[in-house]
Amino acid sequence: MTELNISCTGEVFCTGCSSRDCASRDCVSRDCASRDCASRDCASRDCASRDCASRDDTCDRTNTNIKSKAVTIGNTVLPHGLLLAPMAGVTDAAFRAVCRAFGAEYTVTEMISAKALWYHDKKTTVLARIAEEEMPCAVQIFGSEPSVMAYAAKVLSDPDSTPCTRTPAAIDINMGCPMPKIVNNGDGSALMRNPVLAGQIIEAVLGATELPVTVKIRTGWSEQEKNGVEIAKIAAELGVSAITIHGRTRTQMYAPPVDFDSIASVCAAVKTVNCRIPVIGNGSIDSAAAARDMRQKTGCDGVMIARGAYGNPWIFREIAADMDGIPFCPPTPVERLGTALSHLERLLVQKGDYTGIQEGRKHLAWYTKGLPGSASLRAQIMQAQTPDEMRAVLIPFLNACEQTQAAKEQPLTQAFSEQDGDTQA
Ligand SMILES: Cc1cc2nc3c(=O)[nH]c(=O)nc-3n(C[C@H](O)[C@H](O)[C@H](O)COP(=O)(O)O)c2cc1C
Repeated sequence: MTELNISCTGEVFCTGCSSRDCASRDCVSRDCASRDCASRDCASRDCASRDCASRDDTCDRTNTNIKSKAVTIGNTVLPHGLLLAPMAGVTDAAFRAVCRAFGAEYTVTEMISAKALWYHDKKTTVLARIAEEEMPCAVQIFGSEPSVMAYAAKVLSDPDSTPCTRTPAAIDINMGCPMPKIVNNGDGSALMRNPVLAGQIIEAVLGATELPVTVKIRTGWSEQEKNGVEIAKIAAELGVSAITIHGRTRTQMYAPPVDFDSIASVCAAVKTVNCRIPVIGNGSIDSAAAARDMRQKTGCDGVMIARGAYGNPWIFREIAADMDGIPFCPPTPVERLGTALSHLERLLVQKGDYTGIQEGRKHLAWYTKGLPGSASLRAQIMQAQTPDEMRAVLIPFLNACEQTQAAKEQPLTQAFSEQDGDTQA
């Protein structure tokens, strides 16, 4: 397992770059700590792809003398390398803020159509909004025309005009979405079938922004077309600041298994290009044990959690505690319901009553899964039409939980799991 992390701010180095290129020459003294490098170049352009990787062949990430849990993306340090995945229709501003509060160290917006930004589509600009409490938050774009993707990156990065309302931590390029309406336009994971175009898009986006640029890819289009390594190397050579690899092909969509070997190959390949580009492993991480497994089997630097965070924003704290070797106390039903209610209130503020209720239902169903009586509770959640009706369903349930000593004092798994038989998603 490779736990070594390379931070351009000087905390941790791989042997090669710290002794020669990185620490002594350009990186730390000139680029890295001061100028561009912290924002993009160190993990990407000059320092890494030129000095560290190609010239200095001793840049050895398998040196495990120095261990670090941190991951650096641009100038953002993620203490445990824990990222919340972008999920359209799920990881909106409200959910991102909740996950940040419970230990997500980096978030990404839902995917945003570059073309829609081009056409100044109002709904799309709303999707791009980022609140301070979600930061660091990257904005993810999708599309397949280099000039349009570059336009989107430029607009999103411009402090005076960005619809994000604040400068995002990075621009992330979506090369993983498998949905027919996306791939049929040549966007998302369809780009993996066209490495030349994929490279042109990355180059165009890098040229349009000073922000770090990252990519999210799959292992390939299909079992027969597994070219994650090829795409990752192109991205690394062009100078991206991080690569997330979802360990499934497009054909698999979201079905098991997660291909750890392909993720490991991508990690190894990226390190041969640039030892400072973090590779983030993604796929079916729903517990600390699963995160450990991902890191150990692939050597990835950080982990990205998607469906594992459904109704369970505490997963980030659970993983961090495991990495730090300290106990983790799972949320009690009361804490779970309290968080569900505050999540709902955020949604109502951000999206208004109608959309807040519509979109809140699935989150509330996830939060309450496994609680005693949750099956009938969920039926009522699905029927509630207004904020008051929803509160009238949830608050008495919360009060009943509060009165149950076991619910207050014991974590969900001990108090109720055997009674209900309902398990977490
Ligand atoms: C409902 C849903 C929406 C998603 N939307 C996006 C998206 O907008 N951008 C993206 O790069 N990936 C998206 N994904 C993929 C996830 O980020 C992640 O790669 C995938 O779910 C695998 O992780 P998991 O097995 O832990 O869920 C989405 C996944 C789901 C389930």
